[in-house]
Formats: sequence, structure tokens, C-alpha cells
Amino acid sequence: MTAAKLPRHLAIIMDGNGRWAELRRRDRTFGHLKGARVAKEMIEHCAQIGIEYLTLYAFSSENWLRPRTEVTFLMKLLGRHLRKERRTLMKNNIRFSVIGDIERLPGAVLEEVSLTIEETRINTGMNLVFALSYGGRQEITAAVRNIARAVAAGEIQPEEIDESMIAANLQSSFLPDPDLIIRTSGEYRLSNFLLWQAAYSELCITKTLWPDFSLDELTQTLQQFTSRERRFGRTAEQVRQGPTSQQAMV
Ligand code: FPP
Repeated sequence: MTAAKLPRHLAIIMDGNGRWAELRRRDRTFGHLKGARVAKEMIEHCAQIGIEYLTLYAFSSENWLRPRTEVTFLMKLLGRHLRKERRTLMKNNIRFSVIGDIERLPGAVLEEVSLTIEETRINTGMNLVFALSYGGRQEITAAVRNIARAVAAGEIQPEEIDESMIAANLQSSFLPDPDLIIRTSGEYRLSNFLLWQAAYSELCITKTLWPDFSLDELTQTLQQFTSRERRFGRTAEQVRQGPTSQQAMV
């Protein structure tokens, strides 16, 4: 598959770790451990095949409501994973960043996050983004609050607010919209993930639980994506005539 046909931005909702473990009569944490191993494999593979942006939904705003022991385990896993994998990121020329309310993370995890961002800043290959303590509604609310402040300060008029201004005020404004969102474990919902940015994303839902998601299935999914026609609200004929000037700029 050529890089030109790959999604520029691939986003993944890694779901099903708990069920995977429960099916094996193991603790849910066992599923998260296997899930982290699969995430590592996907990250390296995506970097190697030329994906420009990979966003992983690693911990949602709502995940804070899980039992304390599970939250503590996930936080420790995340911190350890980042510490261990910084070398892998450097080796693969991957630049790391995060979206979400990271101030809520325990200090030790926040430190690993900051170190990883700092150390990988010089890399020029794939951009890996962890959505951590992330919620799409919270992100949009924060953007609206910023814009409201600018209006209250008389810096802008309400009539000047448009889609590009909202997008520019999102924490994820450095990311292009995701071209493809994959969700594992067969649930048909976005669960507060990239709500604004997903307006025209292709969605792929697979029944496979995240710990069983394989490079083969990723390859098949990417192949399916290349065969879908993305119309962005236009007709098939208009699409055949080429991109609009607006799309050509993106
Ligand atoms: C969903 O499984 C997954 C999460 C809560 C977070 C994803 C976390 C990982 C893959 C492990 C850590 C990741 C990295 C990148 C270090 P679930 O518990 O919601 O599964 P369930 O729906 O079957 O309960």
C-alpha cells in the first residue's frame, strides 16, 4: 500500500481489554497489560508504514470513574510504558504528544509524559498522540470558554466566530482531522472521542477485542479504507472532478 493512500491521521479507540481478560477468567488488569503490548506493536508498525499521525485513546475523562484499583493500575502502566518505550520512540523517529486534561494525572505519570514529549520533540517521523484524561465535550467546552473570553474582552465580535476559529481553539488544533477511526470490541459509538474532529472521519468498527487486534487486521482495515470513496458531502461526480479549492489547501 502506498503512503499516499494511507490515512494521514489514524485514530484508534482501543476497547475490550477488560472483556478479553474476563473471558480468560483473569483480572481486568491482565487485559490492560496485553493491550499495552498490542499498542506498542501498532505504534511501531504505523510509524514504519508511513502514517503521519496516530492518536490512541488511552484514558478517557470518564475512565476516572472506574474502581480506584483499576485507575491506579492504568496510571502505573502508562507511566511504566512511557519510561520503557521512549527508546522505541527515538529509534523509530516518533514524536510524542498528548491531548486531554493532563493536570489530573498523578505527578509521576505527568513527569513521564513531559519527559517523553521533551525527548521526542526533535523527531521528524510519525506524530504519536495519546488522548489522556481526554473528553471531546470537555475539549469543545474549553475552546468555547476561550472564545467567550476574547468576545468579553472586546477582541472579537460574535459574528467573527466560525468553524476555523473553533478548530483553532481546540487543544488538538495541531492535528489534522482523523481520516479513519478504528474502534475495537464491536461497540458502535465514539465515547466522547474527537467529537468535533470526527465530522467526516471514516469509521471502522471491529468485533475483535483490543488485545486480539493484529497487524493483519490493521492491514486489512487500511486496505478497506483505501477503497472507500470520501465525498465530504459532495456528489460522486464532483469527487471525480478533483478536490475543491478548500480541500486542496488542507
Ligand atoms: C479499554 O478496555 C481500554 C482502556 C480503558 C484504555 C486503553 C489502555 C490500554 C490499551 C493499556 C495502556 C495503553 C498504553 C498505550 C500504555 P476496557 O477496559 O474498557 O475493556 P472493556 O470494555 O472490555 O471493559
